[in-house]
Amino acid sequence: MAPPPLAIEVSQLRVVRQHSVILKSLSFTVAAGELVGLLGPSGSGKSTLMRSLLGVQTITSGSALALGDKVGTPALRRRIGYMAQSSAIYLDLTVRENLAYFAGVLGVDISQVEHTMHIVNLHSFAGRLVSSLSGGERSRVSLAVALLGAPPLLILDEPTVGLDPVLRRDLWQTFAQLAGDGTTVLVSSHVMDEAARCGRLLLLREGNLLFDDTPAQLLARTRMDSYDEAFVRLIEEAS
Ligand SMILES: Nc1ncnc2c1ncn2[C@@H]1O[C@H](COP(=O)(O)OP(=O)(O)OP(=O)(O)O)[C@@H](O)[C@H]1O
Ligand SMILES: [Mg+2]
Repeated sequence: MAPPPLAIEVSQLRVVRQHSVILKSLSFTVAAGELVGLLGPSGSGKSTLMRSLLGVQTITSGSALALGDKVGTPALRRRIGYMAQSSAIYLDLTVRENLAYFAGVLGVDISQVEHTMHIVNLHSFAGRLVSSLSGGERSRVSLAVALLGAPPLLILDEPTVGLDPVLRRDLWQTFAQLAGDGTTVLVSSHVMDEAARCGRLLLLREGNLLFDDTPAQLLARTRMDSYDEAFVRLIEEAS
């Protein structure tokens, strides 16, 4: 059988911002339909890597392809769903109005609005102003925007931050379901315990890729019981 097509191909990616090297020669690939966790401490370069894949971060050297095209190619805009770390939704619009607005911007059929609200379980909030929603509910609206039009690649920057454990579990189930249906999902987090929910982990530290394998391998290789301890052990080994 032919190997599945690659959704992400990063080769010797280097990003320098204001004379500091933020990403140091990163290389990895992600196959279509994988659920990959991008983990690492604050400042390790997760958002910079995600922005590079979106084509909104200047790449100093190396290359990055998304869905077979060079990142930044205009046609990719509709094929990558992105949830930024900071909220990009309108507080003075309802949930449904926000989704309808972004559907228009993305050229996605309006029928997708109802469908997308169902996926993230937001239907009962459809008519509520976003300003009246809790933090977790707002995160789900941002996630719904990323899901509009069922893009084949999702790049989600800390979508579970600030959520309670039950909501976090629900969202990870949604990510797993999307991946099961063939969507490639790259999710960043600095909560190491979320690692267990991914099929594969990329661990970043100071712009270097410290680890690229399954969660089970992370525990096995470090001989630790918890992901937090395993990560600390990897860092100690690397320094
Ligand atoms: N405009 C900028 N100019 C220079 N350095 C920057 C700029 N923006 C970010 N950085 C630096 O790049 C590094 C990586 O930042 P990035 O936002 O990618 O980290 P992160 O892993 O997403 O962190 P967090 O978990 O806090 O979101 C940090 O050291 C940050 O200070
Ligand atoms: Mg970040």
